[in-house]
Amino acid sequence: MQGSTKHVVVKRKVSVIGIGAGNPDYVTVQAINALNQVSVFFIPNKGTGKAGLAKLRREICGRFIRGHDYRMVDFDTPSRARTTPDYSQCVDAWRDEVEQVYERLLVEELDDDEEGAFLVWGDPSFYDGTLRILDNIRSRGNIELEYDVVPGISSVQALAARHKVALNRIGESIMITTGRRLAEGFPDNVGSVTVMLDAQNAFKSVDGEMDIHWGAYVGTEDEILVAGKLREVCGEIERLRAAAREKHGWIMDSYILTRPEDPEEV
Ligand SMILES: C[S@@+](CC[C@H](N)C(=O)[O-])C[C@H]1O[C@@H](n2cnc3c(N)ncnc32)[C@H](O)[C@@H]1O
Repeated sequence: MQGSTKHVVVKRKVSVIGIGAGNPDYVTVQAINALNQVSVFFIPNKGTGKAGLAKLRREICGRFIRGHDYRMVDFDTPSRARTTPDYSQCVDAWRDEVEQVYERLLVEELDDDEEGAFLVWGDPSFYDGTLRILDNIRSRGNIELEYDVVPGISSVQALAARHKVALNRIGESIMITTGRRLAEGFPDNVGSVTVMLDAQNAFKSVDGEMDIHWGAYVGTEDEILVAGKLREVCGEIERLRAAAREKHGWIMDSYILTRPEDPEEV
């Protein structure tokens, strides 16, 4: 019919699979079952320094997928401009760009009868944008998108397990935050806080009487763990971070800070 264009909506199915935070042994049975349903794995390139992360995703597929063909599609993730003073505006623009990349992948790299997957480091619900990206793509309406989520072992759980500590003090809340937030001040209402995504050594800004359980590359063969009174180990952690970043080109580390128990409260 002249003058009218038909808007074709494509149908796609993907899984978002948490693969654990660095050790292939963290991959769950549910994740293995999901991996074995997938035809196309989308593998983000996050810069040459982080080639190890893409390598781990490939290793996991090689180790756990049996008896069916699949292919890998590498893609470049746009990097975030860090120059604008408006953080949320900067994140919005970057997210929009990322969504376009994902939408193109889903349309062009996946056939109607194939299932795709994004392998998410750790667990998809801990500081990872994949679920939000897919939700927004679905809202745009160009793709009828169905997706499942498989939980993974987050770096938070891996860190707590390696240090053999709980994340909360008795009866208190668990708080997980970022280095950026911690730099604004230690939260008032909790005795313990777990910190991820700290590029600035934000732990230096808090009371040195706190205990810290710190870990880098937890679960991998490069794992480094340090625990102690913050004022005693702060300098060592700072040195280890700088040396590890220099050696590997990137670092993934997190830590748990705990106020000393008040004996009168126990
Ligand atoms: C973008 S977040 C992703 C978190 C991930 N979804 C998870 O469940 O662990 C990246 C941050 O997670 C933490 N992280 C991830 N893997 C880690 C590891 N193996 N050891 C220590 N921290 C890790 C670091 O704080 C890093 O800056």
